[in-house]
Amino acid sequence: MCGIVGYISNKEKLKLAKFMTMIKSLDYRGYDSWGVSHLSDKINLIKEIGKIENTDLPGESNLILGHTRWATHGGVTKENAHPHLSNDKNISLVHNGIIENYQELKSKLDGFNFSGQTDSEVLTNYIQSKLTEDTLSSFAQILPDLKGTYAIGFLKRGENKIYFARKDSPLVLGIGKDEKILSSDVTSFFDRTKTVIYLEDGDYGYIEGNSVKIFNSGEEVERKKSTITWDIDKARKGEFEHFMLKEISEQVDVINQVLIQDSKNISSIVNDLKTKNIFMVACGTSYNAALAAEYEFLKQGIMPKVIRAHEFRSYSKFVDKNSIVLAISQSGETIDLIDALKSIKNSGAEIVSIVNVQGSTLDRMSDKRIYMNVGPEICVLSTKSYTASVSILMLLAGCITDTYETSKANLTEIIRQIYYLTSENSRKYTKELSQLLRYTKHLFTIGRKRDYPTAMEAALKIKEVSYIHAEGFAGGQIKHGPIAMIENGTPCIVFVSNKNNSEILSNAQELKSRGAFIIGVSDKNHDVFDFWIKVIGPDKYSPILRTIPIQILAYYLAVLKGLDPDKPRNLAKSVTVK
Ligand code: G6P
Repeated sequence: MCGIVGYISNKEKLKLAKFMTMIKSLDYRGYDSWGVSHLSDKINLIKEIGKIENTDLPGESNLILGHTRWATHGGVTKENAHPHLSNDKNISLVHNGIIENYQELKSKLDGFNFSGQTDSEVLTNYIQSKLTEDTLSSFAQILPDLKGTYAIGFLKRGENKIYFARKDSPLVLGIGKDEKILSSDVTSFFDRTKTVIYLEDGDYGYIEGNSVKIFNSGEEVERKKSTITWDIDKARKGEFEHFMLKEISEQVDVINQVLIQDSKNISSIVNDLKTKNIFMVACGTSYNAALAAEYEFLKQGIMPKVIRAHEFRSYSKFVDKNSIVLAISQSGETIDLIDALKSIKNSGAEIVSIVNVQGSTLDRMSDKRIYMNVGPEICVLSTKSYTASVSILMLLAGCITDTYETSKANLTEIIRQIYYLTSENSRKYTKELSQLLRYTKHLFTIGRKRDYPTAMEAALKIKEVSYIHAEGFAGGQIKHGPIAMIENGTPCIVFVSNKNNSEILSNAQELKSRGAFIIGVSDKNHDVFDFWIKVIGPDKYSPILRTIPIQILAYYLAVLKGLDPDKPRNLAKSVTVK
């Protein structure tokens, strides 16, 4: 993972404090250490371990390179933080990805000293060992020696350029008038310029203050310029203390945002869904969204196959020209998903993405796409993008038997309910529950049918952010093992549907008989509940509606425990390593 930013200008110098805010905006990609190098007559280097707490770095420069790290090779130390400086102190390099053959490269670096354990430090020195006066051509010749994935940025003493290369790790260029920016993501610069070039795999080249040179396979190439449409306020916390709470609250707008679609595009996708074999592929929360929608497709008489992207390769031989693959991803950069889609590149299958980040790798790999339109999601945990994914998938499933207009109208019916669930009053009530659960070590969530994925997503939210061990099960599953874990007082969150709920209520009773503390999420209060979270709305939309109070619960659990809900330990928002 990791976030990269490179800044170059041929006019104004940029304050390092401003540059630090650009790096900090990428810390959702990793935040165990950070570093900045800038060029004067020598390369100046600043590195620290931990999150960026204070952006107030003195100084300014017109050539700056920075990085925020999510450790893969080597522990969290200053030595392993990027940028890395070559032994001769002439090259400063940042890297995202994994150089798989770094040991082999290292064995060719006789006489070099290494202060850390990273593949990236080896790469820096390998570049030093091979670089000639013609930096660009020699860099191009080095790239085929590298096995693995990379987004690389480096600067060289004596040159007013930032060199870059990309393979399977995201890298974009921000195009300002007298300044250019190299970055893992547009979030770092969209307050400076809205013009962006998305680099392709195999691209390499350099930026200068007033020019961009991109090459691929030895030839200079032109890449299309795109315009970012995101609203800058969405990337700011505003009145909220954390992005997580802000993004939970923004869910009230999600339905209207996802409904901004081209109806022709939706109709043509729905036509294919009616006739082709459907595969749904995703990771994490996006996978739970796919699972939730699976039930709606089943209801419509269609059976999709829902697969976690990292397990997809075993299924890929069954994907052919009669298949439609729905790929769901907030970031559009999750490497497990990209890798899964690469495995079916020549299958003739149609790839349709449901994606938030426009211009992302997934977006560009897709034959058709449906944008979530929910603006940047900064908190590592997915909340509004989950609601967007489920809504879009439900819209598609609804269109199998209903018209687009009816399916849209059905969705809009839950806006009022989302408004109520995210209101201050509802939040206050859920906060009380978090007080009761703050010392809990284990917690279980159960639901049946559509509420089984709701239980999975609820457990994922709670464990990701509060570090309470939470597991989600289908109601019918508990007697096959999990019930052995129930002790006196073990909290169990039970999602109870409005209709046909006798079986899930029996499951709640079975848990309660073993001492469980039952938290019911439902339209009505039931005797078996020890605590009730009221959620009104059609069962069909329960994966959206019944998940929201648990997002809020997870948030308050983290806050009560003194944790940072936006950046849980060990996690990163965009997982670009396997
Ligand atoms: C990581 C994040 C999860 C996210 C998953 C998929 O695991 O920690 O929160 O759900 O990636 O991300 P995507 O961007 O593909 O939806």
